[in-house]
This record gives sequence, structure tokens and C-alpha cells, in this order.
Amino acid sequence: DKYAVIMAGGAGLRLWPLSREHKPKQFISVEGTSSMLEQTFERITELIPPDKCYVITNKNYAEITREVLKGIIPLQNIILEPLRKNTGACISYAALLLERRFQGSLVCFIPADSYVNNKHEYLKAIHQAYRESINSSALTVIGVNPTYPATGYGYIKIDPSEHTDPRPQVSNVQQFKEKPDTDTARTYVESGQYLWNSGMVAGNLQSFKNGIQQHMPEHFNILSAALDQIDSPDFDSVIEEAFDQLPDISFDNGVLENSSSLTAIKGYFDWDDIGSLDALGKLMGYDDSGNSVSGSYVGMDTQDSIIFTSDILVTSIGLSNMMIIKTQDVLLVCPKERAQDVKAFVQLLKRTG
Ligand code: GDD
Ligand code: MG
Repeated sequence: DKYAVIMAGGAGLRLWPLSREHKPKQFISVEGTSSMLEQTFERITELIPPDKCYVITNKNYAEITREVLKGIIPLQNIILEPLRKNTGACISYAALLLERRFQGSLVCFIPADSYVNNKHEYLKAIHQAYRESINSSALTVIGVNPTYPATGYGYIKIDPSEHTDPRPQVSNVQQFKEKPDTDTARTYVESGQYLWNSGMVAGNLQSFKNGIQQHMPEHFNILSAALDQIDSPDFDSVIEEAFDQLPDISFDNGVLENSSSLTAIKGYFDWDDIGSLDALGKLMGYDDSGNSVSGSYVGMDTQDSIIFTSDILVTSIGLSNMMIIKTQDVLLVCPKERAQDVKAFVQLLKRTG
């Protein structure tokens, strides 16, 4: 059988103030669209029946997740984590839990914060990733062609000569590098040998179990011991204590970078992680002046800017490449080129109260 697990427990700090501690980016809907979490489910349920689709998120988002997914998947398919310990903990917990219930099955983990434009090719790549996982002990990552030297993504080195059509293409991974610095990213993109990691990873549940045991033994031991008590009335506190002990590390750094055998699927879908405010234009679209506007706005001589307002009328004269983001209780004004600094700014705000 095939299962899908959507990861939806991240904080999305770089999308502040749209993304807030109580409502991170995967739950946000920009005018005229549904939230990224909802869109992710709309896509994947075309391939995997809803009762085999799961979501894993932080317990603080239990209510909002139920609201969004009511009527889409059975609510018992919402797995809740007591603490946020990154995707290392998220994937380990879900994989080890499902491995106990559905031994021998296949699973694909999918981030909830991706923008996808070509659903047909996207589903084809996921379908292929399940197929590659059937008789393989390797995990399968799904990549796409990189378009610029992004530092916020993982990179997958493949051997381009291995490539043969038909699409999507399958190859062995020679190296997996998570979030390289700009210079390294540039050499990767120029070499033509790397794909961006889309964040989707598939495999059979046994391969996930083996990978976690081998490369993140603490996660394996602590979570396995906790899951032994899943039927105990004290399980909530058992799992919370377990999470408290887990190192905070991503699955990419913990397992994928250290795996000696990985398979890659090259997907042909238009993809982006809506990771920062300057990427919002992709979701909101552009008008003739290159502006992306959501809410009531009137401007003069304003170009290539992003304007979001949840309530009041926003106006501007003579701006270009700016972002004006107005939510109920916050107004942020920031040049587009400083979009990556929002995360550090929010951390500073939190410290200074
Ligand atoms: N349940 C749960 N718990 N989900 C989490 C947690 C957690 O502790 N932390 C993050 N997530 C979810 C996020 O909500 C997102 O949907 C997904 O897991 C990926 O986490 P991000 O924090 O957004 O990772 P990233 O974007 O920096 O990097 C990953 O994705 C890139 C593509 O978007 C990596 O896999 C990169 O290699 C990849 O290129
Ligand atoms: Mg992300």
C-alpha cells in the first residue's frame, strides 16, 4: 500500500507578519486561493486515497489543522507532535509510527509549504518515486532543475549522462548537500549536475526505519522506546519527554546527507518554496506594473512591489521594489531585496519583546 504524510509543523518565520506563531505560512491563504496545506492535500488525494493521507504537525496547530482538513482526510490521520524539533523528529516519529501499523508499505513525505504549478508532472514524479521504492532499500528524493543559486534549498548531485527519457528521470544520487553557501550554490548550478531538493522523500517504511536507526540512532532509540507505550494512558507525557530529549536537526542534515545510497527523481514541474515575502508574487500574480496586490490598494508610479493589506486602504506614490505588508496588528515596510532579513528581524523582535 501507499501512504502520504504531509509535514506541516514548521514556523515559517520569514513570512512574518503574514506568518505568525499561531498561524504559520502553511495555513495562510492569500486572496482568491486556499492555504498551501489545503492545496497540498487537493493535489495528493488525486494519487493517494484520503484515508491513506496523513498530516504531522505541532500540537499547537491541532485546531487550525482540523479546521482546514475537515472533510478532506479522516481527523484521526492528524499526527501531533508535543514539541517542535525539526523534520528529523517529524519524519522519524511518523515513519516509526506508521511502520508499526502498516509494515511493508510505501510512504512519501511531502512539505506543506510548496508552490506547484504543473500538477500533472508533480503527481507523475511522486508516482515514480513510489515505484522506485518498491524493491529498493534506498530512499528516493524528488528534485527539480535549479534556476538560481538559492541558499535555502538542498542540492542533489546526479550524473546527467545516466539520464534517459521517458520523464520523469531516475538516477543515482552522488551527493546530497543541504543549504550550501552562495559560492557553492553558484558552482552547483553552473555545473549542470545538481537538482534542487523539493523536500519530498519517498521509500518503503523499512528503509526509513533503517536510515533513522543508522544515521540518527538517538532519534531511533528514544522514539522506539516511547512508541512501545503508545497504548498506555500516559502516552502524551511519554512522547513529550521523548521529544524533549531529541536533538533539533533536519532530516536532510541527519539522514539524507549521510546516506550512501539515494535515488533521485527529476521532476518537470514548476516548483518553489514560498519561503520569504518576495516569493509571494508567485502566489498573488502580477499586474501590468509588476505589482502583486492583495486587498484594497491605490498607487501612483509604483512598480514591482508587493502590497498586502487585510483591512485598510493602502496607497503609495513613487515606489519600486518595495513590500508593504499590513495585517490586523502589524505593518511591515521593507525593500524586496531585504526579504531574507525578516527571519533575523523577528527573532530580534522576540528577544526584545
Ligand atoms: N511536523 C513538523 N514538525 N513539520 C515541520 C517541522 C517540525 O518540527 N519543521 C518543519 N516542518 C515542515 C514545514 O512546515 C515544511 O512544510 C517542511 O516541514 C519543510 O520544513 P522547512 O523548515 O520549510 O524546511 P526548508 O524549506 O528550510 O528546507 C527543506 O525544504 C526545501 C524545499 O522547500 C529541505 O528539505 C531542503 O533540502 C529543501 O530544498
Ligand atoms: Mg520550506
